[in-house]
Amino acid sequence: MKDLSNPWEIREEWLPENASRADLLEFLLHYSILAPSSYNTQPWHFRFSRNGVDLLADRSRGLESIDPEDREVIIGCGSALGNLDVAAAHFGFGLQVTLFPDRSEPDLLAHVELGRPVDPDIDVTLMFGAITKRRNNLLEFFENPIPEELLELLAETVQREGVWLRFVSGDATRAAIVGLIEQADRVQWADPGFRRELARWVHPNRKRAVDGVSGAALGMGEFVSRAAPLIVRRVDLGRRRAAHDRDVAWHAPVLAVLGSDGDSESDWIAAGRAVSKVLLRARAEDVWASFLNQPLEIPELRSQIADRMQQPGFPQVIMRLGFGFDVSPSPRRSMKDVLLPPKNFARQVH
Ligand SMILES: Cc1cc2nc3c(=O)[nH]c(=O)nc-3n(C[C@H](O)[C@H](O)[C@H](O)COP(=O)(O)O)c2cc1C
Repeated sequence: MKDLSNPWEIREEWLPENASRADLLEFLLHYSILAPSSYNTQPWHFRFSRNGVDLLADRSRGLESIDPEDREVIIGCGSALGNLDVAAAHFGFGLQVTLFPDRSEPDLLAHVELGRPVDPDIDVTLMFGAITKRRNNLLEFFENPIPEELLELLAETVQREGVWLRFVSGDATRAAIVGLIEQADRVQWADPGFRRELARWVHPNRKRAVDGVSGAALGMGEFVSRAAPLIVRRVDLGRRRAAHDRDVAWHAPVLAVLGSDGDSESDWIAAGRAVSKVLLRARAEDVWASFLNQPLEIPELRSQIADRMQQPGFPQVIMRLGFGFDVSPSPRRSMKDVLLPPKNFARQVH
């Protein structure tokens, strides 16, 4: 396996022809780590164990201020699992996933093994092709509408994961959701704890980082971004962020809420798996997405989002979708940074 200084450059041809199942599983993890995560914290660890791989939450990368229960940490891990589902299916295998296989190890979210052979269908092929092309695209999207059939397909894709996707319809509902996004921006930025936490994950646009987000994500140009962590820590940019988010949310061709009937760790994993697939299926049709989750990070506003959507259950992410210009990928940690030492891994097993 080549040493990948840029994990986005992974190519399926790099899998050796005589690869064992163990080699294949290791190879597939390179697609898993391209999944999205809050602030690009990449809060996952992997560990080879028995005949498969464990997925663990790296809670040291959790965001105490906006995500005290690690809900977003686990959605991020779920989306890494979603990418793994897609990559495994592309190479002809279903995944056998056991959630929480050992409750004495609370960070251990899932044990995963390659399961029975499957014939990759066209959706799998398209989603797999989109893994290296997907990005959280923060630019304004074009006005072109997204075809109804694609929206239906996305809702079905999500439903298969046991969660739901609802599109915001009507100006009154959209105005209410957008209002809650703006309100959340103002509340969060007014909190020095929020700014301090964000400042730890923001870096200058040109910095060679392996995680976190660049100042550009907050609308900073190259020069200003050099002081991004300091600015974020010291200055309440809430009004500016609110105005920006109001614009992009209001004009997005599609604003959608993905949620679940329950709000347990397994619901968060299911939501994450669905997030991965909805983003990949959309991207396969040239549709970009980004998240506007801030109201879901404030309990009172989260319940108002649920009320407005008139959908029983728990909203997990808010996203906007649309066509637009391409953006550069965000950095990733390398495999060696996310792999823990193996636990009784039987490498010889086929
Ligand atoms: C659970 C979750 C919550 C997120 N919340 C937001 C958000 O509120 N605003 C935003 O711009 N991006 C959000 N993101 C997207 C991340 O910032 C993005 O995935 C990360 O920076 C990595 O970039 P990439 O998706 O382009 O690889 C979220 C992602 C996840 C998985």
